[in-house]
Amino acid sequence: MLGKVEEAFKELLTCLQTAKMYGIVHPMFGKSLDKAYAAFEDILAQRQEMVIGIVGDELAFEKEIFFDLGKLLRSAILYLKERNIERLAFSRGLSKAELGKFVGVLVGPKEDFKADPQMLLAHIGVKNISIGKLKVDERKDGDFFTSSQIELYNSSVDRVSQVLSSVLNFEKIDPLGLKFSLNSIIDNLGAQRQELLKLITVKRYDVEIYVHMLNVSIFAMYFSSRLGFEKNDILDIGVAALFHDIGKLYISRKTLHKSGQLSEQEFNRIKSHTVLGAEFMFEYVDSLGILPVVVSFEHHLKYDSSGYPRMPLLKKQHIVSSIVAICDVYDALSQRRGYKLDYSPDVVYNIMNKDKGSSFDPELLDKFFRIIGFWPIGSVVALNDGSIALVRDENESDIRRPKIEIVSPVDRKRLVDLAQDYSLSIERYLNPWKEGKEYLALGQ
Ligand SMILES: [Fe+2]
Ligand SMILES: [Fe+2]
Repeated sequence: MLGKVEEAFKELLTCLQTAKMYGIVHPMFGKSLDKAYAAFEDILAQRQEMVIGIVGDELAFEKEIFFDLGKLLRSAILYLKERNIERLAFSRGLSKAELGKFVGVLVGPKEDFKADPQMLLAHIGVKNISIGKLKVDERKDGDFFTSSQIELYNSSVDRVSQVLSSVLNFEKIDPLGLKFSLNSIIDNLGAQRQELLKLITVKRYDVEIYVHMLNVSIFAMYFSSRLGFEKNDILDIGVAALFHDIGKLYISRKTLHKSGQLSEQEFNRIKSHTVLGAEFMFEYVDSLGILPVVVSFEHHLKYDSSGYPRMPLLKKQHIVSSIVAICDVYDALSQRRGYKLDYSPDVVYNIMNKDKGSSFDPELLDKFFRIIGFWPIGSVVALNDGSIALVRDENESDIRRPKIEIVSPVDRKRLVDLAQDYSLSIERYLNPWKEGKEYLALGQ
C-alpha cells in the first residue's frame, strides 16, 4: 500500500507541475490527470480514505513516514505548507473532475489559502478531498512551534492523555497526529534540548501515569537519537516507550500506589500490566507496529531475563525494551511520587549502577549516564565554595563535572565549565521542590 500511496502522490505532483507549465486546459494536463486519477482510484477501491500528512519536513502516510520521498520532494512540501496544508485526505467517491479542480486550486496564488483552505474547495464543489492542518487539538492556530517549552510539554501531556484514553475506549486513534506531537518534541530535542530536559527535571507534577509515560518517551527518543538511531526508528521507539505502561491503566490506583507491603496477589496483579499491555497494543499493530507490543511485554524482563513475565525459554530483551527499561527506572526513581520520596540524582545513579549487568545492559547504562549526566540538566547544586548553581549542560567526558551557571550569590553569577575549572566542584544536590526552589527562578 505504501508504494501505491507514494506513486499516487508523485503522480499528483507531476500533475501539479504540468498544470503550472501548460495550464489546466492543455492536453498534457489531461494526460497527467488521467494517470494521477488512476493511481488514486486504485487506492480508494481498497480503502475508504487515504490521508497524507506533513510531519516536520517529511511526508507521512499513516504510521509510515516517507523520509526518502520527503527528501526528494522537499520543495513540494514547502509548497503545500505555504498554502497552510499539512493534511490531505482523499475519500472514496473522488471523481476525476474533483481531482482536476483541486490541482487547479493548488496552482493558484498562495494568498488564496490564507483563510481556510477547505473553504476554497467547498466553493468549487470538491467534496471528497479535505485539506488543512493536522489535528493537534491543543495547538492554538499557527503558534505551536513558537510556543514556550512548557506549553509544548503540557500540550504533549494533554495529547498523550487523549491518545491513551481513546485507546482505552477502544476508539480509533490518530497515529499521524501522535507522531506529529512526538516529532515536534524530537525537533526540540535538537535545538532546545536543555530547556526540554530541564522541564523533566524540575517541573513539579502529580503522580499522573501519563506524565511518566511521556517522560519515558522523551528520554527514550533523546537517548536513541544520541545512540545514532535513524529518525523514523526514533519515532517508533518514542511511540513504544509512550505505551510501555498502558497495562497499568487496568490496575486499580489503590493497588498501584499502596505504600505498605503488597500481598502476593497484589504483586502479581501489578506484574500483569506487562501482559495486559502487550495484549492491548496488539490491537494496534496495524497502525503503530509491533514494537509497542514487544516493549509493553518486555520492559520488566531485565537484561539477564530474571524479571517478569517469566519466560519458559531464556529470552533476551529486545534492544528497544532495554532502552525503555533504563529510561523507565530512571524516571520512576527521579520523580516525586505520592507514596515515596524522590531520590537525588547521585542516589538514582548509585541504585541503577548496582543493577548494572543484571537489570540493565551495562554498555547502554554507561551510555545513558554519559548522555543524561550524573547531575541532570536543570539540577540545583551547592558548590564547594558555598555558592549555588544550576546545571546547564553535560560533559560527556566527565559526567560529574557538567557546565553550570552560578546563580547565588548574585554578584558571582557566571557560567563555569567544571571540566575546565577544577577549583570548583559540586558538593550537594538541592531538591528543586524544597531547598532548591528559590534558586530556580534566578536562572531564568
Ligand atoms: Fe512497567
Ligand atoms: Fe513505567
